[in-house]
Formats: sequence, structure tokens, C-alpha cells
Amino acid sequence: MSKIKTVTKKAAGLNARVCAVVGGQWGDEGKGKLSDVLAKGYDIVARYNGGNNAGHTVVANGKKYAFHLIPCGIIYPHTTNILGNGTVIHLPSMFEELEPLTEDGLEWEGRLLISDRAHLLFDFHQSLDGKQEEGRGDKNIGTTKKGIGPCYATKASRTGIRAGMLKHFDVFEGQLRDLLQSQRDQYGLNVDVEGEVDRYRKYAEIVSPWVVNGPHFINEAYGQGKSIIAEGANAAMLDLDFGTYPFVTSSTTTAGGMCTGLGLSPDKIETTVGVVKAYTTRVGWGPFPTELTDDTCGGMVPRDAPGTAIGRHMQVVGAEIGVTTGRKRRCGWLDIPVVQYGHMINNYGSINLTKLDVLDELDEIKIGVSYKINGRRLAPGEMPSTLEDLYKIEVEYETMPGWKTSLAGVTEFDQLPQNAQNYIERIEDLVGCPVAFTGVGVGREDMAARVIV
Ligand code: GDP
Ligand code: IMO
Ligand code: MG
Repeated sequence: MSKIKTVTKKAAGLNARVCAVVGGQWGDEGKGKLSDVLAKGYDIVARYNGGNNAGHTVVANGKKYAFHLIPCGIIYPHTTNILGNGTVIHLPSMFEELEPLTEDGLEWEGRLLISDRAHLLFDFHQSLDGKQEEGRGDKNIGTTKKGIGPCYATKASRTGIRAGMLKHFDVFEGQLRDLLQSQRDQYGLNVDVEGEVDRYRKYAEIVSPWVVNGPHFINEAYGQGKSIIAEGANAAMLDLDFGTYPFVTSSTTTAGGMCTGLGLSPDKIETTVGVVKAYTTRVGWGPFPTELTDDTCGGMVPRDAPGTAIGRHMQVVGAEIGVTTGRKRRCGWLDIPVVQYGHMINNYGSINLTKLDVLDELDEIKIGVSYKINGRRLAPGEMPSTLEDLYKIEVEYETMPGWKTSLAGVTEFDQLPQNAQNYIERIEDLVGCPVAFTGVGVGREDMAARVIV
């Protein structure tokens, strides 16, 4: 069994100069909650990838916040928050997200910055996302339809427009007209060129003062001794390169994306915390080896359908409904090869194991410990790259007894029921990484900590 008794503050993400918070599975692990908890002790919270395809929920001060694009650090008044160059920004959605914060009296003005190199995501990117999904028929990815793929495509094809251009509206206007017209011609999209130009004229006035020289800002802050959280969006198995391609998102969700998405050199990441749910969920389609398919029918059964099957139990007790699209999340057992693979790519200093409480009532808990394909057991970290192989995976499971008691209110690892401790220690053994914090509820305070030294 695991020999881990203590975790350093740095490995736990508590006092690193730069701490990356990354998703270890297919998203929705609870990155938002951890970023919020850690933000108390940090100066800057930065998003480095993705756009408003993310849905990060934070329950704090008796309120539930749903963030998509805005870093979760914004709740703490002492923080500065920035959307790095690796993000894609749909300004109308950003304002929609800011509105309830303003209504709540949360003072964010002056604390939200945008890298001049971040790409702007326009309405036509979203229309195109929808159109492309339709065109894929029953092979659709199940994207969030937020325009993410098309926006990164214009970035890569060097026809995109970056936030820095908002400060040069006279040139911006011409670029926008050219871009919109070319997209209209190419894809037959119904684009309101004049309306969009007018909208962006207004946005440019408001947003220009928030636009900073991103890489210079972040490195200057680092040089001044400021501490930084890099809040990852999406997750390892959705990474454009390392995920279950083509059922992935279009950005680098893993730790390397922090360097390219903010302009911080790799040696500056002091720790990467892998956020891992105590079971597995996935929204959208694509391979999911440990999915409990009979129980959840891929998330398509009505939530209130009769039955006590385990996948549905996870879905209902874990409230596994997407924050961004409202879709039911597919559910299954914890998949250790996925976590080992994420650890290999990211090198987690520690794991934040979330939602352990969702398993409270189960008699037995299974852990997918290894994969076999055509009778051959794959080595840890040997994740297949093709759908042909991914769909052939046979998962080997271990079964552990459940703890059958509520974890509510537990704040220390040693106070957890023995069977819950055993489950955590088995994960640590299999992955080779300590679990610094274990989530036992939705709130900021609902975390059981190892002895942190
Ligand atoms: P993210 O995208 O990784 O930030 O995760 P989401 O916010 O999309 O999904 C995680 C969900 O689980 C949210 O509704 C959180 O409030 C909730 N959550 C996070 N940690 C815990 C936990 O330890 N226990 C329970 N029951 N819920 C949690
Ligand atoms: P957070 O940050 C869960 C999934 C989508 C789809 C695929 C591609 O909340 O963990 P996209 O719109 O990005 O082109 O969709 O990726 N996806 C997520 N699933 N959580 C997310 O973010 C996701 N971001 C994208 O469901 O399968
Ligand atoms: Mg989410």
C-alpha cells in the first residue's frame, strides 16, 4: 500500500510561484473549484487555452458561479485575471458572463485583462461549428458549438484577428470585413457584416484598455515575485495532440499549453496539479473504455428514469450535467491508464481527487487498472492513438469495498473511513503520485487534505 504520509505545500499547489491546474480525464473534474480554492493565496489567475467551451463551477460565499471564459480567480478581490494568448475569446459571451458578476456586486473592473495575442472568436465561427457538426452526421464530435475548432483553424491558417487589433480599429474594421466576406463566400454562411462591424466598434472602445502585451505582462509580474495560477480548461484526453483524436477539442489542454498559451518558459512551472474525478465522465462522443453503457445509455436516458444502475447513480448523485451545454455526462469507473497517461505528459506534483463523496453509497467500487488489446496488456502510459485501437480496449478491473457512509464534513485524510483511504492509496500506488486533496462536497471547504508540510 501507499507509503505517502505527507505532501509538500508546493506539490499541493499551495505556495508555488507558478501552479498549473489541469484536467486529468475528459473535463469537468473540478478544475474551477480548485483554482478558486488556491486563488486565495495567489496574485494572478490566467487562462491559457480554450474559450467558452469550458464550464467551471465554483460554490463560494453561499453562491454558485458558472464560469466559461473568465478565470475563477475573479471571485477574490486581490487577484488579477488574464486571458492568455492561447485562449479564443467571443466578446459577446464574455460580457454575458460578466453581467451576473456585476449584478452580484463583484468588482471585476481593472482586474480582467486580455492578452493582445489572444484570438477573437466571432459569431461565424460558432455558425461554422454547428454546420460542420451537422455535416459529420452520426460521426459528429458532440462539440459545444462555441466555435472553438473553427477559431483555432483561422488562427492556424493565419487569417484570424487578435485582441491587440482592437486598439487599431481603423485597420481592424477592414480585416473583419475581409474575414467575414471570405467566410461567407467559402461556407455560404449568413453573415451580417455591417451589424458585426458596428458591434465590434463598441466592443473596441470598452475592451481596448483591458488589452495588454500578454507575454510581457506575465513575465514582468513573475519577475516582480507575483504568483500565478494557470487555470487549465478541458482536459488531457481532450488535448488536440494527446486526446482521443478526433474526439478532442482544438487546443493544448496539457501543461505544455501553459507555456505556449501564456508565454511563460517551461522551467517556471513549479508544480502541476492534476484534477482527477474519483470516477470518470465524458460529455460529447468518442471512446470511453470504462463507461457504464448499459446504465446510462451514453447519457441519453431521462434523468428521472427508474432504476438504480451505477452509471445513472453517478450521473444523478454527482449532478453530472454539463455547465456549458446542459448535456448529461456519460459516466463510468475510474480509468487508471487515463490518469497514468495524463501524469506521464503533465508530471503532476499531486492529484486533487474530486467528488469522492459521489461514491458514498456504493457497496463495491471498481477501478479500471489496465488495458488489453488483442490479448496484450498495454504498459502504463501506452495510450492507443487510433479509434480503431481505442474501441478494441478491454479494461481489467480491480474491485474494492465501498465505505457506505457520508464523507460530508471530513477535512483530513486520516478522518476518512478506512475503505475510502484504501481507495485513495490504491490510486496513488497505481499512478505513482500523491493525492494532496480529496473532494468531499461542492463547497470551497469540502476538501479532505493530507498532512501538508
Ligand atoms: P471543471 O470544468 O473541471 O471546472 O468542473 P465542472 O465545474 O464542470 O464540474 C465539476 C462539478 O462538480 C461542479 O458542479 C462542482 O461544483 C462539483 N464538484 C467539484 N468538486 C466536488 C466534490 O468534491 N464533490 C461534489 N459532490 N461535487 C464537486
Ligand atoms: P471544462 O473546462 C467537458 C468536449 C466537448 C466535445 C469536445 C470538443 O469544463 O472541463 P469543443 O466545443 O471544444 O470543440 O468540443 O470536447 N469539451 C469538454 N467536455 N468539459 C470541458 O471543459 C470541455 N470542453 C470541450 O463536449 O466532446
Ligand atoms: Mg466543466
